[in-house]
Amino acid sequence: MSDQANKPAEWHGAKMEFKESMSYGDYLGLDQILSAQHPLSPNHNEMLFIIQHQTSELWVKLMLHELQAVRGQLRAGELDPAFKMLARVARIMDQLVHAWDVLATMTPSEYTAIRPYLGASSGFQSHQYRALEFILGNKNPQLLAVHEKNPPAHAILERELHTPSVYDESVMLLARSGFAIAPGRLERDWTLPTEADESVKAAWLVVYQEPDKHWGLYELAEKLVDLETAFRFWRFRHVTTVERIIGFKTGTGGTAGVSYLRKMLDVVLFPELFALRTAL
Ligand code: HEM
Repeated sequence: MSDQANKPAEWHGAKMEFKESMSYGDYLGLDQILSAQHPLSPNHNEMLFIIQHQTSELWVKLMLHELQAVRGQLRAGELDPAFKMLARVARIMDQLVHAWDVLATMTPSEYTAIRPYLGASSGFQSHQYRALEFILGNKNPQLLAVHEKNPPAHAILERELHTPSVYDESVMLLARSGFAIAPGRLERDWTLPTEADESVKAAWLVVYQEPDKHWGLYELAEKLVDLETAFRFWRFRHVTTVERIIGFKTGTGGTAGVSYLRKMLDVVLFPELFALRTAL
């Protein structure tokens, strides 16, 4: 054996031996993450399809983590950390908007080869995505049924359904800041989707008319508008990518497909924040 073979491996001073200590892969659980891709078809392109969905789910997990903290910060009146987190969520959403460019490299022929292997599975059944919609105020109790076979996911959604959304917390903050918000808006049934309220619109209008006086609320409103704008782009890129790939075929999840996704483009998460712009 040469002397070289007996020497411990060395590379620019980097630690090379991890029998006793935690490595990068240990810390990140990479064995689990990287062994979770199981293509069902013989088609090369299914790996793209799987990884695109899995990475999106990871980013949605982070958005939920941030938004749950934002809700707590708003309740505690700690706006600065909430702004930081809201900015992060909007940037994550922007990144997911651009991620569609990668999936758009999948042609209809390639998807058609995979589709029979997908069964009835669809992003429509993403419990994290549903929780994201709920925490932003787009509540829909009917959609919990999809998650009955997964009790932990069902429980998360059930809890999220009954908890005031990030926007509800923003409206409560308006009230605590001295704005006259209709009592019915402050004690509403939290399981219902956000509905425009005149008293909320009037309050935001004042904030926008006198931003210097209400800077914190003004900044909060703009951060929310940033987030909703990025979310709208995401929905738009989804539907256009889907049309490009499957045309007007029905979805694997059972909806009419593109026409269903187009209807979702009409969802407005923070209605008064957009309505006030016409009134200003
Ligand atoms: C070839 C790629 C894709 C196609 C053809 C596609 C198609 C569809 C269709 C047709 C629907 C409506 C429900 C149904 O009937 O299935 C849907 C919903 C959904 N998809 Fe996709 N999708 C694709 C990629 C993705 C990716 C990469 C994500 C990211 C996680 C995603 C997330 C969702 C979500 C969250 C919904 C529910 C939307 C809602 O209910 O508002 N999709 N998709």
